[in-house]
Amino acid sequence: MKEFIQSLPKVELHLHIEGTLEPELMFELAKRNDIHIPFNSITEVRHAYNFHNLQSFLDIYFQGANVLINEQDFFELTWAYLLRCKEDNVMHTEIFFDPQAHTERGISFDVVVNGIHGALVKATTELGITSELIMCFLRHLDEESAFKTLAQAQVHKDKIIAVGLDSTEVGNPAGKFERVFKLALEQGYLTVAHAGEEGSASNIHEALNLLKITRVDHGVRCTDDENLVKQLINDRTPLTVCPLSNLKLKVFEHMEQHNIVTLLRKGVCVTINSDDPAYFGGYMTDNFMAVNQALPMNKIEIAQFTFNAIEASFIANSEKQRLATATQGYLDQHQ
Ligand code: HPA
Ligand code: ZN
Repeated sequence: MKEFIQSLPKVELHLHIEGTLEPELMFELAKRNDIHIPFNSITEVRHAYNFHNLQSFLDIYFQGANVLINEQDFFELTWAYLLRCKEDNVMHTEIFFDPQAHTERGISFDVVVNGIHGALVKATTELGITSELIMCFLRHLDEESAFKTLAQAQVHKDKIIAVGLDSTEVGNPAGKFERVFKLALEQGYLTVAHAGEEGSASNIHEALNLLKITRVDHGVRCTDDENLVKQLINDRTPLTVCPLSNLKLKVFEHMEQHNIVTLLRKGVCVTINSDDPAYFGGYMTDNFMAVNQALPMNKIEIAQFTFNAIEASFIANSEKQRLATATQGYLDQHQ
């Protein structure tokens, strides 16, 4: 099954580019940019990646991002991720970035976007990987900061398809950003939001109703509310689930307890994603493998995650058709 999963065409919809910063690159950039990091070795860094909840991860994640200074740094970060995509046969990826994690440190919005976007353009021609960019607001910061970030994005609107919401879920309800999301929708962005990761099923309701989101990032707590699950099935609302992330951040104690396969079999549009692969111990293939190991599936079920992700993606219908045909061809060949 490893070979089948490794070469299966994939689409990633929940990936924080700052979360792909591998310790090796963190060290290299810290040295190049003369930034102090509180680790003496790569082993020490990996040791620190022992999280007990979302916040303990976020503290390390923002600290890691401090080594990113120049456009070239953002380019190299993104390019390294795209090379990993190639290994896992990820054909299309929709990438989050957290501009405020950088602008708060005095790095310009333009430096961040141009570095990431440069690598995405190169990947289209050199790797045959297509992509979209989603700008996330940090929900632990205030509404004013989010409005300011939306304004900074204006000149880069052609490079950004959607806005999202990440960082500390509990204590920072979707309603805090209702007005920013309303303006973003008026400006033509699509909207997504992290909800129901650590927070309750009611957070998912709130994000759907107040922020008009087209996908729920994580959303695994939906199973606490049977009617919500029914609604997600009826509306084909996609959930971008991140199995290894959920395990690392103790959303589920064991993969055997994860609800992703139950949700798939119920007909929810669930997808598999890597979230912050450098921190959570795996990229796309690793996530598929971990789920299948704990909760064995047949090949049709495994490929359904790709079909769901194609459906849930923000690409044109003709492009969706092309990816679906490639995936079906692969499945037919391997039955
Ligand atoms: N949840 C919330 N915020 C995040 C995450 C996550 O899993 N990853 C990066 N920022
Ligand atoms: Zn996330």
